[in-house]
Amino acid sequence: TVPVITIDGPSASGKGTVAALVADQLGFHYLDSGSLYRLVALLAIRRGIPMEDEAVLAEAARQLPVAFADGTVWLDGEDAGDAIRGEEVGMGASRVGALPAVRAALLERQRAFRQEPGLVTDGRDMGSVVFPAATLKVFLTASADERASRRYKQLIGKGESANLQKIKQDIVDRDARDAARAVAPLRQEPDATLLDTTEMTIDQAVDAVVQWFKE
Ligand code: CDP
Repeated sequence: TVPVITIDGPSASGKGTVAALVADQLGFHYLDSGSLYRLVALLAIRRGIPMEDEAVLAEAARQLPVAFADGTVWLDGEDAGDAIRGEEVGMGASRVGALPAVRAALLERQRAFRQEPGLVTDGRDMGSVVFPAATLKVFLTASADERASRRYKQLIGKGESANLQKIKQDIVDRDARDAARAVAPLRQEPDATLLDTTEMTIDQAVDAVVQWFKE
């Protein structure tokens, strides 16, 4: 059967960066599941759909015209890579992600990424709901201060203005929402291995995951 490595964890933990590099090293496919929730939120914002209109948002999720190519995310032929990264869309993703019908609409689409020679995927419920029989499950985290500082540096590096205190508050708020929801709440699964990257470099984190997979 096709191997799957799931990397779940809280926001701005660096799980996306680590997951993409692990996929590169192993020559596996990579799925950034958060981008699907972010795209649904982006569509909601653009079309003026209320973030609690479950039926309409689930339909948008079912029909989501998404493609992953050339290192970015395409929405109906438009490069949406930058548009989905903002914190407004992130918070919207957290709100639409709390709707069971939206999660159900995205389930099979995510599972379709499991293809030879293997898949690395990151999100909140990759190991608990989407790929419960994954080969290796990792719960990747870091302290809230460290995560805030990583996101801050990322924004400054892109030439954007940023406020460290506000970033930390956004991160803490979003994690609280993700952990409190009834469906697929953010938590470490009993069979997931904890990777606390507070004091680790990206390369060290990538090596740890690749090592565990090969064991
Ligand atoms: O990188 P960051 O953690 O900030 O964002 P993300 O992984 O793109 O996820 C954005 C939001 O989408 C999260 O706060 C979750 O509420 C939601 N999400 C989810 O519910 N399930 C997933 N598998 C991935 C993301």
